[in-house]
Amino acid sequence: MREILVAGNWKMNGSTAAGEALVDGIIAGVPEGSGFRLLVCPPFPYLASIATKISGSKVSLGAQNVSEHASGAFTGETASAMLKDVGCEYVIVGHSERRAIYGETSEQVAAKFQAAQAAGLIPILCVGETLDEREAGTTQNVIDEQLNAVLNAAGVDVFAAAIIAYEPVWAIGTGKTATPEEAQDVHRHIRARVAERNSDLAEKVQILYGGSMKGDNAPGLLSMPDIDGGLIGGASLKANDFLAIAEAAAQI
Ligand code: 13P
Repeated sequence: MREILVAGNWKMNGSTAAGEALVDGIIAGVPEGSGFRLLVCPPFPYLASIATKISGSKVSLGAQNVSEHASGAFTGETASAMLKDVGCEYVIVGHSERRAIYGETSEQVAAKFQAAQAAGLIPILCVGETLDEREAGTTQNVIDEQLNAVLNAAGVDVFAAAIIAYEPVWAIGTGKTATPEEAQDVHRHIRARVAERNSDLAEKVQILYGGSMKGDNAPGLLSMPDIDGGLIGGASLKANDFLAIAEAAAQI
C-alpha cells in the first residue's frame, strides 16, 4: 500500500502572518491515523519561518522551484542545497506554470530534478497536457515526452526517491477537475511507462493528482488505484479546505 501525500502548492500567495496562521491551522487539525503525509510548499521567503513552525509536526516542507545549478553567478536563483539548508525535504519541478510562463523545457526540468536529488531533496515532477493537447488526442504523447526527459537523462532508478504529479493544465485553477476515471487513465499510463523500465519501482512510486482538487472531489480521486495523493493549489490556502482533503486521505 503506497502512502498518500497531500501536498499544498501555495504558489505566489500569502505573507509572513498569513502563512504562519495557515500552518498553525493545519497542524491543529491534522486528522488522526496513518498512511498519509502532509506537505506545504510556501514561497521562498517564508520557507525558513515555516520550517520552524512545522518542526515536530506531521507536516513536511517543500519549495516550488529550484535552480538546475549547484551554486555561482545565477542572480535570482535558488540552489537545492539552500533549500535543504532551510529545512525543505521536497521540491516541485516542472510545474506547468514554470513551463508555460517561464519557458522551462523538459530538459531543463530534468536537470532541476537531478540537481534536487543530488542535494538530497525529493523532487515532485509535474507532467500534464493542455486542453488543446487533450482534445487533439495527444495526452499520452505529451506525458511521455515530459517523463522521458527525466527517464532518459537520469534512468528509472531515480524514481525510488521522487514523486510524480499529474496536473492536467486545463484543470488547474479552473474549478474543472478531471473525473476520477480520466485521472486514473493517465495515472495508470504513467505507472506503466515506469514499469516498462522497472516494475518493482513502478509499484512503489507515488503519483499525485493536481487540478482543482477539493474536499468534495478528493474522496473519489483518492480512491482510484493509481492516485496516491494530491498536489493542491487553491484549496491549500485555507486550513479547513486543505484539512478536508487530508480527512479524505485519512479515510482511504
Ligand atoms: P488548483 O488546485 O488551484 O487547481 O492548482 C493545482 C496546482 O497547480 C497545484 O500545483
